Amino acid sequence: MSNQRIDGVRLWDSLMAMARHGATQKGGVRRLTLTTIDKAARDDFRAQCESLGLAVRVDAIGNMFARREGRDPSRLPVLFGSHLDSQPSGGKFDGALGVVAGLEVMRTLNDLGITTEAPLELVNWTDEEGSRFGLSLMGSGTWAGVYPIERSYALTDIEGVTVESALKDIGYQGAEPAAPFPADSYFELHIEQGPILERAGARIGIVTGAQAQVWWDARITGQDAHAGTTPPDARRDALVAAAQIITLVDRLMREHGEDGRGTVGFLKVEPNSRNVIPGEVAFSVEFRHPDSAAIAALARDFPALAAEAIAATGCTLTLTPVLHYDAQPFDAECVALVEAAARRLGQPARRIVSGAGHDAVYVARRMPAAMIFTPCKDGLSHNEAESIEPEEAEAGCQVLFDAVVARANR
Ligand code: GLV
Ligand code: MN
Ligand code: MN
Ligand code: MN
Repeated sequence: MSNQRIDGVRLWDSLMAMARHGATQKGGVRRLTLTTIDKAARDDFRAQCESLGLAVRVDAIGNMFARREGRDPSRLPVLFGSHLDSQPSGGKFDGALGVVAGLEVMRTLNDLGITTEAPLELVNWTDEEGSRFGLSLMGSGTWAGVYPIERSYALTDIEGVTVESALKDIGYQGAEPAAPFPADSYFELHIEQGPILERAGARIGIVTGAQAQVWWDARITGQDAHAGTTPPDARRDALVAAAQIITLVDRLMREHGEDGRGTVGFLKVEPNSRNVIPGEVAFSVEFRHPDSAAIAALARDFPALAAEAIAATGCTLTLTPVLHYDAQPFDAECVALVEAAARRLGQPARRIVSGAGHDAVYVARRMPAAMIFTPCKDGLSHNEAESIEPEEAEAGCQVLFDAVVARANR
């Protein structure tokens, strides 16, 4: 074990303090991106960074970078972080762990009087979840150049508020361009959000990459009509058509066996009145798989299969592509640094592929990147009951510290 130790109690206290921003009755967090609650968490993060002597910059999509200078001005910064936004009924740790652990890394370095050779930058990415504006990894994807900023700015929430106006409203449309700057590498600590580490009895996940994904926004148009008077042959029920597609998504997922994932997680029915046949349904569709070819085949075949599935309903379907990315392997050298740090910790660790999407996936297109996972109770996440143990947070933060410092001093 490294003799430069982070403070597990202090880390846990700051995780609990961050979880007060948007705390829910059931012990979770509702901190939707770019809301006043997100602003409060951002302001808190900024104040903590400044009190640690870090210089904070904000870019045009609201990503926050907190810099600690290194000894060698010619070295590029080592980046690490995650996200402070949450799902509507999210947990305390998804995202926040990586940001708050990053603060603990900075505090520990200050306490020990260590100046690393390369500068360090702690990042809070905007809108990782995609639950308010519908596009996951929005901040990191815009920064990495995957999403044009005009597209990101124009996204709207369910009330029609655009990303650009939400950024302005909370004062987080920064002056820096939202674009990659020269940087050495990126490390992200995150909870696993699934059951693999817990089942294996592992304390640390050495993340070797993330699986492929494809997402669409779907809209089915039928006709609003009276529920009591419209006979079967005159009905064009958009919700019945959506049900066919939901079943199709589930079937295609199951055809891919244990590694298949397919979800319709969002559904908006109009007019949503019990005695009106639904004329319009908007919903989300996503598939994930560790094999890029499996996702490429679904990206190609799903639109025709979906159209066929609703052919008998008299409704029409439009599918708008939202995102499609291949499986993203992480950088072998960065993964090796995480593995070495996990080994020094002396606790059970194993390699794992991420089932969830993470900012590291898009950052990895721009620089060497790697991730560290901690287990979470019953593998549960995107749920208010999401839970981890203080010792797990401490172990993950120690591995983050060791990997980042080793990279910055190499
Ligand atoms: C991010 O939360 C994801 O959908 O994996
Ligand atoms: Mn997350
Ligand atoms: Mn999440
Ligand atoms: Mn996520």
